[in-house]
Amino acid sequence: MEIQTRIKFEGKMLVQPTPEVVLLATPEDVAQFAARRVIEQVSAKPSSVLTLPTGQTPVRMYELLIEAVNAGQLDLSQVILFNLDEYYPIRKDSPNSYARYMQDHLIEKAHIPLTHWHIPNGEAENVEQEAKQYDELLNQYSPVDLAVLGIGPGSTCHVGFNERGSSETSRTRYMTLDPETREVNAKLFNNPDEIPTGAITQGIANVLEAKDILLLATGPAKARGIQRTLYGPIGDDAPSTFLRYHPQTMIVVDAAAGALLPR
Ligand code: PGA
Repeated sequence: MEIQTRIKFEGKMLVQPTPEVVLLATPEDVAQFAARRVIEQVSAKPSSVLTLPTGQTPVRMYELLIEAVNAGQLDLSQVILFNLDEYYPIRKDSPNSYARYMQDHLIEKAHIPLTHWHIPNGEAENVEQEAKQYDELLNQYSPVDLAVLGIGPGSTCHVGFNERGSSETSRTRYMTLDPETREVNAKLFNNPDEIPTGAITQGIANVLEAKDILLLATGPAKARGIQRTLYGPIGDDAPSTFLRYHPQTMIVVDAAAGALLPR
């Protein structure tokens, strides 16, 4: 496992945060930046393998990507997409499933062949087996060219659904959601009680195996997490800190999410 050797080596050597931090004014600026980065990636390599996030943060990025597709500036017909995570258990056609989210926000509108898009199956009977199969499929396409990520709310510092306690060697698996994650995400469900207790998520090691990582954060609820990610000790009490092991991590924030960063 070459990546693990590299991670350990760099873990010992790191003194300063390695990620490049891009501080922008508004959420719109962050979305524009992220969309440009994806367009650049896919223009350079039309068959790029991408890991993609769900959530509120990337919604505008997906709109911009669809605008680019419709304007003939972007062709997503050859890309291979892997989602970071999916609730478990959840019906694929639930309005809150990430499968539904992806179909609505990108797949259908960008005319992406369904065979090019992969997301853990929230309806799988055997969750361990589903996670293992997803991991194996992802490995077949590894290394991912670009992993676009969000960060969890408050002090969770999760990436994907790698909640506190996730190690840097974790791989795709079932994860029980952090109570703080459930509280925030439940607000997005028509009936907050219906939020699942768990998820299937790519692990931290899967994310770190990508060639390039782009983490997006907007709004004041992310400010402490971003500060912690960049300046706190690296550890499993804040899984996003493991991104500092990766030599090509870029963190793009708006003024509110970057408010606690030193100037
Ligand atoms: P958000 O979710 O974009 O809705 O804030 C990000 C996450 O929980 O990872």
